[in-house]
Amino acid sequence: ALERTLSIIKPDAVAKNVIGEIYSRFEKAGLKVVAAKMKHLSKAEAEGFYAVHRERPFFNALVEFMISGPVMVQALEGEGAVLKNRELMGATNPKEAAAGTIRADFADSIDANAVHGSDSLENAAIEIAYFFPATDVYTR
Ligand code: CMP
Repeated sequence: ALERTLSIIKPDAVAKNVIGEIYSRFEKAGLKVVAAKMKHLSKAEAEGFYAVHRERPFFNALVEFMISGPVMVQALEGEGAVLKNRELMGATNPKEAAAGTIRADFADSIDANAVHGSDSLENAAIEIAYFFPATDVYTR
């Protein structure tokens, strides 16, 4: 089914100047960018986005990392977009990410892991709405 998912290129990958290389992987896999913006998240924005992880031991480090520099936030649209994006990203821990995935190629650690992608269709809708009003998401 045609789906949308929320993708974030994290501060480490933005700093490495690989936004275009990562967008190219989305496009080659048939995912279209239907909304996008660069944003330096505030602490409150990062905490709100990752609220489901609030009780996890890595929460504070995750928030500090996510506000360490600007991120690129985009909604991606395509057939099976949620799973397709997760396959392109590879495992959360780059040491476990399959060869040729974004995290295998660009991530340095489980914290600085280059990209975020929604883990379910339900969360994708919540995460897209967190960053983009419906009028800023374009079917194309
Ligand atoms: P992300 O997909 O953005 O969702 C939460 C993030 O927490 C995850 O990617 C990792 O960058 C980070 N993180 C740090 N430690 C862990 C861990 N042990 N398990 C899962 N995520 C972790």
